[in-house]
Amino acid sequence: MLTEKAANMDAKAVAALRAVSLVKSGMVVGLGSGSTAAHAIRFIGDRIRAEGLEIIGVPTSSVTNRLAGEVGIPLIDIPSNHGIDITIDGADEVNSSFCLIKGGGGALVREKLVAAASRELVIICDPSKIKLKLGAFPLPVTVVKFGWEATKCRLQEICPEAHLRFARESEEPYLTDDGGYIIDLPLGVIEDPDSLERQLKAITGVIDVGLFVNLATSVIVGNPDGSSDELTRNSP
Ligand code: A5P
Repeated sequence: MLTEKAANMDAKAVAALRAVSLVKSGMVVGLGSGSTAAHAIRFIGDRIRAEGLEIIGVPTSSVTNRLAGEVGIPLIDIPSNHGIDITIDGADEVNSSFCLIKGGGGALVREKLVAAASRELVIICDPSKIKLKLGAFPLPVTVVKFGWEATKCRLQEICPEAHLRFARESEEPYLTDDGGYIIDLPLGVIEDPDSLERQLKAITGVIDVGLFVNLATSVIVGNPDGSSDELTRNSP
């Protein structure tokens, strides 16, 4: 049934469909951001209508909040007491230790908060996101707007090409849901994601970094032929 439905979908949707089959009534579900996560949100909406699935969603961005509302998912903020059962989210890059680069869509702070509160973080992607080493995708770093140029200079000591992100087709800086700016770091290759995350987070003015280390519990890769693979995690 899953295979039949997946046959005519793009690879991102294939991964999303498989991940959504893990969702059960009664769960609190973290809802990721980006085009792959959007497929998952729509599939959850389909299941609510078709089977009466009863879940509560925790959105990771204002865009996701809107979409989830449209497809009929009741929403809450991150629960303080019992956490989130499962979060389904996309990624910009994934390595074999399940370290991720996220934040291409700008939502990395809320995505990391939701991921950290989740028992399971299921990453969904197409095969282009799987990398031997992270870093070909510029690493997003969210910074406080006040004093951002000073923070950028500190980041340029680590990555000379670090630059402010601008809103699409605009001369205005991109503004995150929480009012921060994003500095993108084209690093090329990241040898040690764990220590780089710690080094960057130690810089005053940095809110968070798009490196997700030890957060993903599984990775589902959709393929263009409608099949999908669940990857096995290698030790870091
Ligand atoms: C959003 O801030 C990101 O972390 C996305 O999860 C990531 O950019 C993947 O996006 P796509 O699913 O659109 O490729």
